[in-house]
Parts: sequence; C-alpha cells; structure tokens
Amino acid sequence: MTNVKAAPSPAATFDWDRAWTEVGGPPDGDGRINMVDRVVDRHVRDGRGDQVAIRWFGRADADLADPVDVSYLALSHRTSRFAGALGHAGHRPGDGVATLLGRVPEVYVSALGTIRAGGVYTPLFSAFGPDPIAQRLRLGRIRVLVTTGVLFRRKVRDLLANLPELRLVVIVDVHDDDIDALRTSEHPGRVEIRSFGRFLGEGHDEVAAAPTTVESPALLHFTSGTTGEPKGAVHVHGALAAHHATGRAVLDLHVGDTYWCTADPGWVTGTSYGMLAPLAHGVTMIVDEAELDARRWYRMLAEQRVGVFYTAPTAIRLLERMGADLAPAEFPELRLVASVGEPLDAAAVEWANEVFGVPVLDTWWQTETGAIMIANRLGRNVKPGSMGRPVPGIVATTLRRTPDGELERDADGAPIEADVDESGEIALRVGWPSMFRGYLDRDDRYRSCFVEAAAGQAGWYRSGDLARRDADGDFWFVGRGDDVIKTAGHLIGPFEVEAVLDAHPAVVESGVIGKPDEVAGNIIKAFVVLHRGYEPDDELRTQLVAHCRRHLGAAVSPREIEFADELPHTRSGKIMRRVIRARELGLDAGDTSTLQTAATTPTGTDPGGPAAGPSSERGDTP
Ligand code: WT7
Repeated sequence: MTNVKAAPSPAATFDWDRAWTEVGGPPDGDGRINMVDRVVDRHVRDGRGDQVAIRWFGRADADLADPVDVSYLALSHRTSRFAGALGHAGHRPGDGVATLLGRVPEVYVSALGTIRAGGVYTPLFSAFGPDPIAQRLRLGRIRVLVTTGVLFRRKVRDLLANLPELRLVVIVDVHDDDIDALRTSEHPGRVEIRSFGRFLGEGHDEVAAAPTTVESPALLHFTSGTTGEPKGAVHVHGALAAHHATGRAVLDLHVGDTYWCTADPGWVTGTSYGMLAPLAHGVTMIVDEAELDARRWYRMLAEQRVGVFYTAPTAIRLLERMGADLAPAEFPELRLVASVGEPLDAAAVEWANEVFGVPVLDTWWQTETGAIMIANRLGRNVKPGSMGRPVPGIVATTLRRTPDGELERDADGAPIEADVDESGEIALRVGWPSMFRGYLDRDDRYRSCFVEAAAGQAGWYRSGDLARRDADGDFWFVGRGDDVIKTAGHLIGPFEVEAVLDAHPAVVESGVIGKPDEVAGNIIKAFVVLHRGYEPDDELRTQLVAHCRRHLGAAVSPREIEFADELPHTRSGKIMRRVIRARELGLDAGDTSTLQTAATTPTGTDPGGPAAGPSSERGDTP
C-alpha cells in the first residue's frame, strides 16, 4: 500500500471486547454467552418486554391493516417453548435445526429457539427445489426441519429415505389433527411429524438460554462455490458483537426504532440483519410475507414510519422501473436506506436519494464475514457507486492478483497490497468476531481462504471479490474473482445448475454463466451441448427448463438456454465459463493460455498441460 491517505485507522481505536458493553456486558470469565439471552431476554430484563419485536404482515393483508405483533416478552416465551420442546425431542447441544419457510413469524421462533437451546440453526431458501434442499439437509446433518405443509409435500416428503440424520419435521400451518395425512406409506418410522402448535406445547415459557460460549457454533449458512457441493459456513455465538456493532455503526439502530429488512430469511442477510442485529438493538422489525410490490412497499415505509430500511439493489432497481410517481411525497420517519448483495450503481443511488430523500448507503459483506465489513456511513460524504470504507474494528485491503487468480508475493512470500486505483482482491485482517470458523467438513477449503501476511501481522482472509481503492480509501466493486453467479442478490453456484442439466438424457455437457440484466444484476444462462439425435429446438429448451425447475426451483434455474456445438475447455478438461461469458458479452476473454486447442484433448493427455483431471474436478478458485 503506497498512496492511500493516512486516515486514522478506525480499527486501531476499536476494541472488540468493549463492543459487548452495549449488548449486556462482556461474556463472563468462561466466555459464556448465548446470543438469544442478549437479543431477546435482555430486553425483558431491562423492562422492554412489552415493546413489539416483530410486526408481521401476512401476504393476504392487502391494506396493511391487520398486522400480528410479537412483543419481546412473547418472543422470549415462544423461543423458550421451542427450546424446551427440542430438549424433549432428545436434541443435544450442537444438533442442527433448519427452517424451510418464507417470511413468517415461525422462522424467528425456530431460529432463536434453536440457538437458545445451544443448537445450530440453518436457514434454507423456500424457493429452492428438492435437490438443493436435500443436499443442504444432508451436508448439515440436520435433525429437525421446520416447514409448511405445502413445502413438505412438494419438496421434502420424497427425500426422507435419503436423509438418515433427520428425526423430526415440524409443520407450521397444519393443525395437529391433520398431520397424519402428510405421511405416505413409505414414511420412515425414524422421522416424526408434528404441528408447530403441538411442538411448542411441549416446552414452557421460561427456558434459560443454554450455557454456550463465544466460540460455540450457533449458525450454519450454506453458500455456493464454483464447484462441487455447497459449503456450510459455521458462525459462533460471539458473532453477535459484530452484528450489534455494525447495526449501530452502519444502520444506526437504536432502541425503539422501526426497522425493515426485506431480505428473505433463507439467506444470511435474513439472519444477521433480518433478526440478530435489529433484535440486539431492541428495535421493532417489520416483516412482510408478500413479495415486492412498489405501492405496498411505499405504503409500508410511510404508514409504519420506518426509520431504517435495508434492502437489495435488485429491489431498488425494480422500484425505479415501476416509476417514482408511485412514491408518496414523504416518508415521515425514514432516515436511511441501505443496500447489500450486489453492486449498487451510482444511478440507482441517485434515484433512491431523490425518491426517499435520505442517504442511500451501499454495504459489502459475505456469508463468510457474517456481518457488514465495508460500508458507506451516515455523516460521511457518499460517493455514489462506491461501497465506502471498512467499518470500525475491520481492517480491509486489496491484494494484487496475477491474471490466473493467484496472489502476487514479495521476496518474503507475503502478499502485496494493490496500489491506489489498481484492482485487487478484497482481503480482511483475520480476527473479527463474526468471521466464519470453518466450512463444515471442508478444512482444506477453509484454510485456503487465508493467507499469511508480513511477519508479525495477523493473516488475511481472501474474499474472492475484486475491488479498487481510491486515494481516500473508499472501495469500488470491480467484480467477483470466480464464476459464481449473483442473481437478484442470491448467490448461485454454476456447477449446481450444470450438474442438473448434465443429468438430463439429452445433455452431453453444459456451461452456466451469469448474463448481465438491468434489474436482477444477472440472470442464469446455460450453454448446452446435446447428444447426437436430439434436436436443438424450442421444445427441448422448454423441457430442459422444466427439468431444472423441478429439481432446483425456479429461482435457481436458467432463464435462458442456448444450444452450442461445443464448449471451451482448459487442457485439463474444465469448462472455461469465463470464456463462455466473454464470448456471450463480446468481451476480451482475458488470459486464455490454458484454453484447450485443437492440439490438445479434454482428457488432459497434452504433455505440457497441468496434471490431468477428469472434467468433474473443476477447480475451485477462491
Ligand atoms: C457476495 C456475497 C448479502 C450480503 C451477504 C450475501 C456480493 C455483496 C456487495 C456490494 C457488490 C456485493 C459479492 C460478495 N456482494 N455485497 N455491496 N457490492 N457486490 O452474502 O450470498 O455470501 O454473497 O455478494 O460478490 O462476495 P453472499
């Protein structure tokens, strides 16, 4: 790092141990802490039990006239009941509980009830099809699943035989008398099914939080890489210090605020900022079951007097497309809008500034970082299009990369920080509280995310994202360093889509890329090579889309399919998605020195090529 102005490092003046003072005090001498004690019970102890924690609007409530309020006291009781019921069901500390639910109050009760009991909570995206659901339940060794009757019948029931760890399914919207109708003749005896109501009835209102410590696992969030199975990022109870600190430093949350985070509870934002950070601050959270609708959203923001609104670039662009004239003249309490998940371009910032009349702050983070790491902040000059700077307590930089994605090193082997305005990989100094503590069962992959720094310094976590830093130290997003696709803010592994396409009898192989889209950021586009004898026509295209939707769910399926005679491969046989993408977009493909040419073969027999690997071993570039 050479020319970056010597702004006082916020990290130098920030003490993570002291971050606990405002969230109930430091953990006791043994490091004991349970997130749920701090985000729910603490407010009851402090006399805020009657305050509304969750104000829920059902999908059918078109006039926003009939919300269901859950107070902090009620949340304490219901999460106690859930935790107690888990205990009755033989649940042990560390056991996994997953939800497969939309935005309903039971998500919060299940998640926080699990964490209260010392269990590990995993959210699953309710729009996933059976394949991604099965994979995550299996990899996470999930023992208890909370879902709806419809999702159970459509997506889970046929999987039960192949989920040996699953013991209990709790159904939120089916009466206990009707539960037996969900069983088929093939229902494995090991899996009990219960209604949510009956399940809660097995606990009681005051179950103390389990004596977990700052390092006890609390959350398991699946995230997709370039290759292979999704990875389960493990987060610990101590992560709450970062949720709380960033909830204040970036989102400016205070007791009694009304706050609305539109993230789906199936992704990490839905937990970190749709649940833990806001509850840690004692706010009233708006939860709307319905999908984006401009009129409804503007009405919600105005009538519910929302103060802080955390949403996604795709949502902002959709609102923009529907027209600013739908917006009311004022949002009486709104003081900030923030966004996360994909690049927020300068035009979107300016549009939102204008319509909402408040600062619009881009924030950057990842499943692995657990909390916001880089952000624009209130009271600072926001450069539209920039992500801002590292938040207090975080040291971030950009590291120089070679064209093939390796880090450049100095003579001592230490990575080199990129110059001002030079693109590099975003890296974070290890040691912040919400840093993931592992990828479940993938230690090597976890270790490969870290590099040692210069002697005497803590190492860096490599994010895999590319950015440049300007002379003021503000970060500007450049792109992902890998082939993973962001569509409508959701992270989709191309390999998972390719694997499903490749399983179709017509398909030899496929390559899946993100194709830029004005609203969704990217859409999923597949290039497919067919077996001889199959016609590349619209009928087959429709069949392939239906096949993907059946297995993956619509949100994860290709929106476009193009038939190709062949796909570009490396000499070792890996599909070069980067090249497919560059060709699709008419861009320079960059370094193609490893591209297989006519003289080489996809099986890697080229003597000059890298060690031969079958095409299923696609590289996992971080
Ligand atoms: C990836 C992480 C939604 C936050 C957690 C999602 C992209 C995130 C930004 C931003 C440009 C962004 C990155 C990152 N991303 N925030 N402000 N500008 N890109 O976590 O699903 O693990 O996704 O989202 O590529 O690596 P995730």
